[in-house]
Amino acid sequence: MIQPVILSGGSGTRLWPLSREQMPKQFLRLTSSESLLQQTLARLKGLSAQPPILMGHHAHRFLMAEQLRESGLSGTLVLEPEGRNTAPAIACAALLARQTGEDPLLLVLPADHVIGDLAAFTQSVSCAEPLAAQGYLVTFGVVPTYPETGYGYIACGSPLGAGHQVSSFIEKPNAARAQHLLEEGNTLWNSGMFLLQASTYLSQLERLQPAMLAACQKAVDEAHGDLDFLRLGEDAFCSSPAESIDYAVMEHCDCAAVVPLDAQWSDIGSFDALWATQTPDNAGNVVSGDGMLTNTQRSLVIAKHRLVATLGVEDLIVVETSDSVLVAHRNQAQQVKQLVVSLTQAG
Ligand code: GDD
Ligand code: MG
Repeated sequence: MIQPVILSGGSGTRLWPLSREQMPKQFLRLTSSESLLQQTLARLKGLSAQPPILMGHHAHRFLMAEQLRESGLSGTLVLEPEGRNTAPAIACAALLARQTGEDPLLLVLPADHVIGDLAAFTQSVSCAEPLAAQGYLVTFGVVPTYPETGYGYIACGSPLGAGHQVSSFIEKPNAARAQHLLEEGNTLWNSGMFLLQASTYLSQLERLQPAMLAACQKAVDEAHGDLDFLRLGEDAFCSSPAESIDYAVMEHCDCAAVVPLDAQWSDIGSFDALWATQTPDNAGNVVSGDGMLTNTQRSLVIAKHRLVATLGVEDLIVVETSDSVLVAHRNQAQQVKQLVVSLTQAG
């Protein structure tokens, strides 16, 4: 049986000013009337799976609970006292899943991705199941189209079931290495979703990250119920090293496999990626809200409160909210993250 684990604790700063500390990307209704978290939950309906475990930050607990309720699903809401990245979050989910005496296959899903082809996603999960049951940490690989430096890269090894063994996993390479990996061929992007048996992940952590495993075990032992939530033991969880599964485990394990994912996947990592997932008009523009575009090409305009008019511009991102306006070139979309850091430092 599959146990979904939804990772809902990120901040999504590259989508500022839409995404805020109190309202990160996964809770935004960016591409439809459902938030990205709700689209992730809806994706589970096509699988034969247990009610999901949602891992998130305690500051977002009411958003998580409300959006879960709206989605019509039940699930366990587990609260992290602070973000320690994805490896400890998945460890706690695995330990909680093991408490029942079962050893389920954890389907780890980021809460902030878009998948256009649901049937293809479901098919990839089915292909991954036998490999995960054999003790592989299974990744879902996407054919890369450009040298993105914000993703993990999977070098495919020998064929294995419906996929391949992973001969190496390279998380967030620099631009030169990403270009090299792309040219080498036989390399896939890591989509950030995983299928792994709880016990396999925990035994890899025991080997690679014993301090993290010990902290997470204590956090789970000390967890307590609070209304609809399960709060992890605070001191123990905060003492865990903060690391992503990609750096902590995937780069170092020798039991990773990859199955192909061809499901119109996007992680909506930036406004440029958001622009690319939408159907543009004839001039290549994507407009949400009250936008008036004249002589404008290949631009994204999001107007939340006021009319936004553009004239004679190309490749622009304009995002208007009640208190801030972002105007950026589309090729600077990744730098919004640094902009937010500067804004936070400025006070
Ligand atoms: N519960 C919890 N706690 N969730 C978290 C935390 C945390 O501390 N930190 C991040 N998340 C969630 C995010 O909300 C997102 O859904 C998911 O975990 C992945 O985190 P990101 O911070 O978005 O990772 P990334 O995009 O830089 O990289 C990952 O995804 C790429 C594809 O989008 C990696 O797996 C890359 O290898 C991969 O290519
Ligand atoms: Mg991401």
